Amino acid sequence: IERTLILVKPDGVRRGLSGEILRRVEAKGYTLAAVELVHATPDQLATHYAEHEGKPFYAPLVDFMLSGPTLAVIAEGDGVIAGFRSLAGATDPTAAAPGTIRGDLGRDWGLKVQQNLVHGSDSPESAEREIGIWFPQS
Ligand code: GTP
Ligand code: MG
Repeated sequence: IERTLILVKPDGVRRGLSGEILRRVEAKGYTLAAVELVHATPDQLATHYAEHEGKPFYAPLVDFMLSGPTLAVIAEGDGVIAGFRSLAGATDPTAAAPGTIRGDLGRDWGLKVQQNLVHGSDSPESAEREIGIWFPQS
């Protein structure tokens, strides 16, 4: 069965949107296999965001992800990797379509990094890699 790693990033947790976001995942018919509130470490974030190292938003992104707890979630279901990315909407919350998590609940705050509420793995390989980072005991 396919699985993905979803993160409710610190902005989503801080704004009290964790329940609303998980509700949308469950309403779509996906199953929550694990949910844990995690205060990320710099090492975890360096691994998770290795592909973005060197980009101008990298340091602000890591600082943002260290700014508070993140809700780490493993969700399961056929097509869940692409399905959750479609629920999440475009990376830029201003451009994200209404009906999506980022389109309905996110906006630009004029900061150095896009605070776009959620992360979702983008491939089966990323999903397994990222689940190992956020659920190291599994
Ligand atoms: P994730 O699900 O979080 O991985 O989002 P994504 O796959 O839609 O975006 P990507 O992996 O390309 O970027 C990771 C995160 O870096 C994004 O979610 C944003 O928080 C931030 N980010 C990406 N691109 C930009 C950008 O061009 N400008 C700024 N300021 N932040 C960005
Ligand atoms: Mg990504």
